[in-house]
Amino acid sequence: MYAKETLKGRVALITGGGSGIGLEIATAYARLGASVMIVGRNEERVQQAAGDLTNEGGIVAAMRCDVRNYDEVKGAVDATVSRYGSLDILVNNAAGNFVCPTADLSVNGWKTVIDIDLNGTFYGCHAAYPHLKQSAFGGSIISIITMLGVTGWPGAAHAAAAKGGILSLSRTLAVEWGAEGIRVNTISPGPIGDTEGVQRMYIEKGNGDLEAKKTALGRFGRKQDIANAAVYLASDLGSYVTGDNIVVDGGRWLKYVAN
Ligand code: HXC
Repeated sequence: MYAKETLKGRVALITGGGSGIGLEIATAYARLGASVMIVGRNEERVQQAAGDLTNEGGIVAAMRCDVRNYDEVKGAVDATVSRYGSLDILVNNAAGNFVCPTADLSVNGWKTVIDIDLNGTFYGCHAAYPHLKQSAFGGSIISIITMLGVTGWPGAAHAAAAKGGILSLSRTLAVEWGAEGIRVNTISPGPIGDTEGVQRMYIEKGNGDLEAKKTALGRFGRKQDIANAAVYLASDLGSYVTGDNIVVDGGRWLKYVAN
């Protein structure tokens, strides 16, 4: 529904871009004219995704990067800039998660998820900053979180704390970097039915219907719903939006609070 050249001339780096929501955002950006670098831990997967999008006519490259490693994140940022000449959009999408009661969670289990989600997002923002502030369009950072990081997430204390931390980090950076033309926002997806996370955490455990009914709309969302918000925030359509958290969750968090 967006005009075809909505993101023409922009360069985007997307972490965790080889599958799920990250790949959907990469697909939308490429179709709307952006040059895209997708990175992830699984080299084969990101290369395959980049190849598919290139065959569709997109300008898309890929490389391996574990967001837990600052040097690798900086390497991905530098490779993006040397390939495309600039960096305008950073999407911090890479995430790791598993369900585990807090009392049983090991220190390393806690640290692993904090490293991927929170530290990985900080590394991306930090490494991208010098380039984003030079963006001809104004830089845009978009991080994928969840309202479960605000309302509480029993069984996922690590992920809840990380996502809540990303919200706070994003608001801070929005104020700190706003004068340099960098907008910093988050998107909070609800349960997105066609993702690995919802398949694994809800549907495979037989809780699909129950979780869908927890939303006000009574159904799971689609990856495309999140990509639509990510296009809005990356483009001039969202040029006066910063420090915001766009909730795309079918009214789940509201219903949870209301109940
Ligand atoms: C308890 C667990 C565990 C589990 C791992 N650990 N899985 N503890 N229950 N199910 C512990 C391990 O025992 C270990 O601690 C520590 O966590 C690190 O585990 P590793 O397997 O060595 O780590 P690694 O191979 O790096 O894998 C990272 C991961 C994994 C996060 C654990 O799940 C992963 O790679 N996930 C990426 C994909 C993913 O999760 N996508 C979903 C994102 S969706 P010890 O102490 O034994 O050394 C999302 C939103 C979901 O975030 C929304 C749903 C509604």
